[in-house]
Amino acid sequence: METRVVRACGDPGADREVMKEAAGIIKAGGLVAIPTETVYGLAGDALNPSSSKKIYEAKGRPSDNPLIVHIAKLKDMERIAEDIPGTAYKLAEKYWPGPLTMILKKKEIVPYETTGGLDTVAVRFPVNMIAREFIEASGGFIAAPSANRSGRPSCTTAKHCLEDLDGKVDMIIDGGEVGIGLESTIIDLTGGRPCILRQGYINEEMLRDALGDVETEAPETEHPKAPGMKYRHYAPKGIMKIVQGEGSHVEEKIIEMVSEHLSREEKVAVISSHEKYQEYLDNFRDRSSVSVYDIGSTEDEDLIAHRLFAILREIDDTGAGYIYSESFDTPRLGKAIMDRLYRAAGHNIIYSD
Ligand code: TXA
Ligand code: MG
Repeated sequence: METRVVRACGDPGADREVMKEAAGIIKAGGLVAIPTETVYGLAGDALNPSSSKKIYEAKGRPSDNPLIVHIAKLKDMERIAEDIPGTAYKLAEKYWPGPLTMILKKKEIVPYETTGGLDTVAVRFPVNMIAREFIEASGGFIAAPSANRSGRPSCTTAKHCLEDLDGKVDMIIDGGEVGIGLESTIIDLTGGRPCILRQGYINEEMLRDALGDVETEAPETEHPKAPGMKYRHYAPKGIMKIVQGEGSHVEEKIIEMVSEHLSREEKVAVISSHEKYQEYLDNFRDRSSVSVYDIGSTEDEDLIAHRLFAILREIDDTGAGYIYSESFDTPRLGKAIMDRLYRAAGHNIIYSD
């Protein structure tokens, strides 16, 4: 299959031809990679079982890991979900369209191929205009996991999609870099208390603001309610470790460990805050086997979130066998950022003091 990459800009007039073509692909059971505000998605018709099967194949993903159904009108939630609790409407009013996914009881119309055999369905109403034009044009119900091949970091550009999906999807809609860079927050509304299954841009405090009471699933639960959380996602090819500790102990520890690898002529990468970046550069001047990535200032957590996946991909391209990352426990997005980093590192943490 030849994969076509086409540009879109989010203006319905200008995008009309692209959307017509993309919708034709979806209605014929094909696949299209699309931008959203969080990460790129690998889209197919959510109500067509064979499209969902194709998504699993293209992604190389186990078929017990359910797909999120994307809608472009609030009313459409009621066509795919039933027994919808009041909490869903409260959240929708505050945070939809936006980077929030709600788990609800599914209606029969949603095939088990899409929900990985579950009686629940994950519903998301994205804010990105290109995604919304595309969903509307394609019939209203789009299944879309993150567009990366299973196990790779999520895609934040069309170029990443092409790296992972060339020859596996009919079309990639290039809408430029995504805004947020981390996947949506997932909240389960099918139990007693609303429960956060995946951290994201809509954080605990924002959810509590809307609902009062919210619980969070423990990070290393053996059987997580979101099946995807059990996989070691975003795994870079090298061995990754996260270094934690107070102040300058962190960079001292990282410099010590990188030096050991250098003495063995091993390739290393470091994910650094902007604040400590120069310190590493000064220490490893002229050492071509160390790549240091400035992920942004700890004062600018949106930038850290935005760059994280692209940096993990770049590190893979350098062929680094070992990766050390600082920890980014920032106030608003820290939990979401660290969830991705911990899983990239397989929860491999070093304490520096
Ligand atoms: O931001 C996002 O959510 C992106 C964009 C493309 O919308 N999508 C995304 O999809 O991250 P994916 O498939 O990579 O992650 C979806 C997660 C998985 O961990 C999956 O197990 C969980 O949602 N999930 C989906 N349906 C579920 C359900 N019915 N119950 C529990 N978890 C569910
Ligand atoms: Mg994913």
